[in-house]
Amino acid sequence: MSSIPTTQSAYVINGAKGEVKSVAVPKLASGQVLIKNEAVAINPTDWKHVDFQLGVDGAIVGCDVAGTVVAVGEDVKGVKVGDQLFGLVSGASAITPENGGFAEYSAIYADRSLKVGNKLEHAKGDSLPAGPVTTWEGAASLPVGLITSLIGFVHWAKLPIHHESKFNDQYFLVWGGASSLGQLVIQFAKKVGFKVIATASSHNFDLLKELGAEAVFDYHDKDVLEQISKHAGDDITYAYDTITTPPTTLNVYSVLSKTRESVLLTSLNFDEKTIKEVNPKVKAIDFPLAYLAIDKKKKFGATGFEISSPAGLFEDTVKGVSEVNEGYAKDPAYLRHIPVKIVRGGLSALDEALDIVRQGKNSGVKIVVPL
Ligand SMILES: NC(=O)c1ccc[n+]([C@@H]2O[C@H](COP(=O)([O-])OP(=O)(O)OC[C@H]3O[C@@H](n4cnc5c(N)ncnc54)[C@H](OP(=O)(O)O)[C@@H]3O)[C@@H](O)[C@H]2O)c1
Repeated sequence: MSSIPTTQSAYVINGAKGEVKSVAVPKLASGQVLIKNEAVAINPTDWKHVDFQLGVDGAIVGCDVAGTVVAVGEDVKGVKVGDQLFGLVSGASAITPENGGFAEYSAIYADRSLKVGNKLEHAKGDSLPAGPVTTWEGAASLPVGLITSLIGFVHWAKLPIHHESKFNDQYFLVWGGASSLGQLVIQFAKKVGFKVIATASSHNFDLLKELGAEAVFDYHDKDVLEQISKHAGDDITYAYDTITTPPTTLNVYSVLSKTRESVLLTSLNFDEKTIKEVNPKVKAIDFPLAYLAIDKKKKFGATGFEISSPAGLFEDTVKGVSEVNEGYAKDPAYLRHIPVKIVRGGLSALDEALDIVRQGKNSGVKIVVPL
């Protein structure tokens, strides 16, 4: 690590705000590589960790990173200095506050990192449509949504991420299909062979159809549930509620199959007891938390509650990531990246970039900051 500095600039929590500060470059744990970040992306979890003080003071914020490997830790196989990776960092962590995404350097686990060859370049202009992963900005748009949906499929719902004909006659409903998470869930569900339907604002219909949805319904319509049931009948057996507010979860319960066992994945914690009676056939998999695919524990806030990674999650993530990387090695459009809105200005632009997501002004797009 001789040519790597010992200090770096990073965006850290200070009270209920963030600030750019000089901090130490993180040390590598076994299995990790150090990447020099080329682009980072914003997720709702980032501003929530700042505003609701779910992290700790001084913790580096940020989870979505794409960059070049500059150092390789112990017990790393198949990754070398110079490789281009994109991955998930446990940003704003109360357990590992010294490592986060909004920094010049991040430590990421090599076996749970994504790669599409070594030819990524910076995007020109201010935006990118959904497409093959050929740019740092497109790559940075993916890790959180990709890993969260991947573990939902391979670990929690025990679904494959390649075609199986037994699912051809079943519908997979993605509530909140235009969210970052939703755009990845649609693509995975289509790969498995489900007939995919989604909800979104009407201006996002074409995007979601390009990603694999056969029909999209406007969740603002009063009769959206009737529209969905008219289209899919009693054949919706899987759903992902990527929004997970009481009304969205209630909506999904009410359109899932009433006669067959069905599975519901949610993006946040919810109280199953209060709505179970709406549809007793639903098996809800509560809160498949992406942080637990990379860390043994996630702690919310300095004194908050702690969740541990369940047995088998790391192994399932490693296997799933390996299958995704095989897909990317053959085709950079294996999973298309989310449409990107680029906010320039490096780490100093993070307040502005976080505000866009905080205010919900990121309809169908990922806010990405090149570094
Ligand atoms: N469990 C985990 O590890 C994990 C991982 C990632 C995210 N999350 C959580 O999952 C949620 C989504 O995250 P994200 O990054 O995917 O969000 P995002 O990209 O910021 O989502 C924005 C989209 O949500 C859609 N939306 C908002 N309200 C909706 C509603 N009532 N019905 C349908 N769609 C609605 C909007 O669609 P339109 O523009 O089409 O209206 C908007 O485009 C957040 O709460 C986040 O914290 C959890």
